[in-house]
Amino acid sequence: MSEVIFKVENLSKHFIIRKSLFSRKKIIHALKHVNFDLIKGEALGLIGESGSGKTTLANIMLGLLKPSDGKVYLFGTDITHYNESKMRPLRSKLQIVFQYSHSVLDPKMTIEALLSEPLKIHKIVTAQAIDSEVSRLLALVGLTDSEKKKYPHQLSGGQNQRILIARAIATRPEVIICDEPVSALDVSVQGQIINLLLELKKTMNLTYIFISHDLNVVKHICDRLAIMHKGEIVEIGDTNKIMKCNLLKAQDLIS
Ligand SMILES: Nc1ncnc2c1ncn2[C@@H]1O[C@H](COP(=O)(O)OP(=O)(O)O)[C@@H](O)[C@H]1O
Ligand SMILES: [Mg+2]
Repeated sequence: MSEVIFKVENLSKHFIIRKSLFSRKKIIHALKHVNFDLIKGEALGLIGESGSGKTTLANIMLGLLKPSDGKVYLFGTDITHYNESKMRPLRSKLQIVFQYSHSVLDPKMTIEALLSEPLKIHKIVTAQAIDSEVSRLLALVGLTDSEKKKYPHQLSGGQNQRILIARAIATRPEVIICDEPVSALDVSVQGQIINLLLELKKTMNLTYIFISHDLNVVKHICDRLAIMHKGEIVEIGDTNKIMKCNLLKAQDLIS
């Protein structure tokens, strides 16, 4: 029997916005009745055009946003209404990798401090072992000890993306949600990061949700694809099958 890591059941989310005090309220249906299971060891791609609800779905699964309706089960437990203190013990098992931008890594912290932080917060190793663990993490993401004393602005975009990945794997997670992790990078660097994520998936026995608006990126890394359109999953299945049968339709929906 395959183990279900996440179960997402009939998830809906709407936002009520009002542009100014005098304008009428507008309801945005960001997610509409979304259902799927994430199976241990798989990489599930969530693809769809900008605004189709991918990040909203990720934020709800991470417990950072509450749904308007529906349920989220993690490791078989209903976490839909968990508050931050109930989520905290799960945080080390569930990580997110965002697209690198200047706002996601504190520019005043060295690489060493940035990688020590999750180790300390989640008490992954003893204080004496932090330095060698930071070295191990750097090596795992293809960087070296010479990066330790540097600041994010001294690294390339691809190297900083590797630091974000190192921070995520520092807590030895079971699941990583990657939200557009290569969208800001040159195509050649994209390939290197995808290969790194594939390697880590194998060595660390990880399960991925991989969010992208680019079918070319997800087809290399995902076992299954879910195509999102206007807040709904309109298609879900094996990557090869979706690529073959629905290529035109899929590209139509996301471009
Ligand atoms: N906090 C928010 N307040 C109002 N509308 C939001 C908020 N977050 C997302 N939305 C809207 O919900 C829809 C889905 O957004 P999002 O999940 O960010 O899509 P994606 O990640 O696929 O680009 C969009 O129409 C977006 O404008
Ligand atoms: Mg997004």
